[in-house]
Amino acid sequence: MTWARRAVPLAAAALAALAARDLTQRDHALRRNFPVLGRARYLLESIGPELRQYIVAANDEERPFTRDQRRWVYASAKQENNYFGFGTDNDIEYSAGYPIIKHRTFGRAVPPSAPTAGQEVRLPCAKVLGGARGRARAFRPESVVNISGMSFGSLSGRAVEALNRGAALAGCLQNTGEGGLSPYHRNGGDLVFQLGTAYFGCRDERGRFSLARLKELVAGAPVRALEIKLSQGAKPSLGGLLPGAKVSAEIAATRGIPRGRDCVSPSRHAEFDDCDSLLDFVELLAAETRLPVGIKSAVGDLGFWSELADLMRDTDRGVDFVTIDGGEGGTGAAPLIFTDSVSFPFQQGFARVYRTFAERDLHERVVFAGGGKLGLPDNAIVAFALGCDLVNVGREAMLAIGCIQAQKCHTDTCPTGVATQRAWLARGLDPALKSVRAANYLKTLRRDLVKVAEACGVEHPGLIDTSAVEILQGRTGSAPLRDVYGYRPEWGLPSPADRAEIVRLMTAEAPQGGSAPPSPTAQR
Ligand SMILES: Cc1cc2nc3c(=O)[nH]c(=O)nc-3n(C[C@H](O)[C@H](O)[C@H](O)COP(=O)(O)O)c2cc1C
Ligand code: SF4
Repeated sequence: MTWARRAVPLAAAALAALAARDLTQRDHALRRNFPVLGRARYLLESIGPELRQYIVAANDEERPFTRDQRRWVYASAKQENNYFGFGTDNDIEYSAGYPIIKHRTFGRAVPPSAPTAGQEVRLPCAKVLGGARGRARAFRPESVVNISGMSFGSLSGRAVEALNRGAALAGCLQNTGEGGLSPYHRNGGDLVFQLGTAYFGCRDERGRFSLARLKELVAGAPVRALEIKLSQGAKPSLGGLLPGAKVSAEIAATRGIPRGRDCVSPSRHAEFDDCDSLLDFVELLAAETRLPVGIKSAVGDLGFWSELADLMRDTDRGVDFVTIDGGEGGTGAAPLIFTDSVSFPFQQGFARVYRTFAERDLHERVVFAGGGKLGLPDNAIVAFALGCDLVNVGREAMLAIGCIQAQKCHTDTCPTGVATQRAWLARGLDPALKSVRAANYLKTLRRDLVKVAEACGVEHPGLIDTSAVEILQGRTGSAPLRDVYGYRPEWGLPSPADRAEIVRLMTAEAPQGGSAPPSPTAQR
């Protein structure tokens, strides 16, 4: 009895001490929001591989991101060991559609071997954004990896801030998403401002697009380019909805809408209604802001793309960049049928659009960006081989700042404070700490992309062409990427001048690997 009488208060005191520690630490949002209880997740996570091996899922089964993929992002974000032991557990031999990257034995570029060599490598875009059309504020994006549009509203202010600071640390661009430009976007990172159908941040009192407001906005923030959002892979043709309860004073001010009322985005733009008027709008924005202007779209019916490319070939109007979002892409909230079945997955959609431009000889004059799980190096490499110049990362960046793939983004109950407007949940996310994690992840992805490029014998992922990738068709066959997507040999690469320039930039910067000193009998 005496023993029990002593043990109970002791246990209570220990729990209270643990709770106090959890509440005051900043490293783990989950523990801060759910003191003591949150620890159970870390405990289960640590024995997860063993548990799953017998009763739950395998390392490569979960979706959208498998355990292996998430582990790679988490370890990269924390700059921990992101290697895997014992060999692949992917079903390479039997699964069809698996991409194989073909390394070169004696390529002209050689990857350094040390795990973290090249962590700080600069990896600029191989094309100048807005250069082909002579935009006054054309520029070469400093990073081929950038943060995809995710609005303040779907993400918490702290998450947006963490990503913006992370973008500044990693030297990349953050797309604002369609929810306007908030104070959280003003923490040092350069921006791409997105214009959605509701023109949040650049609309007048009646909800109409306002050129004057747009000019004022871009003049007062580090906006480097404008992106007109036509659609998003996870919910093409649908406008977003932010329930009134989530329309806080801050969100109302950022979007230019009344507080506390449902915020419904229309499904179509009011400023244009076909390719011709779209191009007029693009040229208007470019002339008035002097910025490069592009479009973001998912891929469905190809008629739109042929008409757009015809008009670009036959008139002096054109978009500076095209962002293709895959149907496997993410969203804050969308109907299941749209996330699952409307619009092509990235590779198929992108290849069709690229071919449409390339057949009209426009591919070297447009910067192509892609999204849809391209924050994983294998997917990104195939995207580059198909002609992508930039990859945008959305959910992978969310993972880097603490997302645990609970998939409750649409409920405002995100346990890690990433996709919620509830202050008590967002409180757990420390933007200063998570910004470093975001930057570490972005840098690691760039490093891996350079390493793979070098393994293929070239200095930059943009120089990887379709001949470097084959798609397995089960155990006994494979098809070159070029044949799978009907590419001509010269497609997928920047112009010869752009290629020469990017090689010059990369050879001045990237660390190179090599061999041990040659012996006296070396045959070289
Ligand atoms: C929470 C969330 C919010 C998003 N908000 C936007 C948005 O405002 N505008 C947009 O164009 N795409 C939006 N997206 C789509 C992403 O920008 C991206 O295109 C898509 O998730 C594919 O990239 P990923 O696979 O790297 O996540 C959002 C995605 C998520 C997960
Ligand atoms: S933890 Fe869950 S709810 Fe939060 S952002 Fe990630 S997937 Fe969405």
